[in-house]
Amino acid sequence: MPNVILLGAPGAGKGTQAKRLVAKYGIPQISTGDILREAVRNGTPLGQQAGPLMSAGKLVPDELVVGIVRERLKQPDCSGGFLLDGFPRTVPQAEALERSLSEMGRVVDAVVELDVPADLIRARVLGRRSCPACGAVYHVSDSPPKVAGACNQDGSALITRDDDRPEKVEKRLSEFAALTRSLSPWYAGRGLLRKVDGTASPDAVFQQVVQVLGDGR
Ligand code: AP5
Repeated sequence: MPNVILLGAPGAGKGTQAKRLVAKYGIPQISTGDILREAVRNGTPLGQQAGPLMSAGKLVPDELVVGIVRERLKQPDCSGGFLLDGFPRTVPQAEALERSLSEMGRVVDAVVELDVPADLIRARVLGRRSCPACGAVYHVSDSPPKVAGACNQDGSALITRDDDRPEKVEKRLSEFAALTRSLSPWYAGRGLLRKVDGTASPDAVFQQVVQVLGDGR
């Protein structure tokens, strides 16, 4: 499995696909959103800095996430490949990633972009429910839990993420348009971008993702 970035708007299905890719290829998912949410839950200095920005639907400063990812990529479990989910999100983050990987003698092999129109994004994010204990993700109508409001895996009460409320979703979409969308042409210019139609079912999207990744070498 190569070194892969999953790109896409908030709610495009990056986390959903990342979990399937981790199960298939046995490589670690590095989700900056998950790392930051854990820091917020634990009340660490990072969490105290990031929490108010995340809850306002804004990006956290580049230097915070760049440092987190640089250290994470040095861990032994990343030596056989990694899957970045939600990073990079700005061109300076992409440039910093390129520099960090180059210092390690590594490169990004593929950038998979999940293409989903804004109206479908809104429907997905507003219907998302998350398990605060294990991180499992559901959708109230498209992929509901077996028992309404409870996680299939551990029975915890499902929550709506603070930044999944309508006004926050609009802010996140505008941050995406202003700061993240330009990564698509940036990576296309490097011959790395592989676009996937993200509007199909999770399994159908996964088949496309596996296809564009080829045999993973
Ligand atoms: P982060 O956690 O990365 O949020 P995001 O990018 O907004 O992505 P989401 O987790 O909302 O969605 P997703 O694409 O993973 O979709 P999912 O699979 O859950 O970041 C949160 C915040 O942290 C940011 O706003 C920012 O403040 C900060 N942050 C993080 N990284 C940062 C960085 N690098 N720089 C600066 N700040 C950073 O799916 C969504 C819903 O749709 C679910 O209900 C799911 O069941 C459903 N669904 C998924 N796929 C399908 C499908 N194919 N068909 C039908 N339903 C589907």
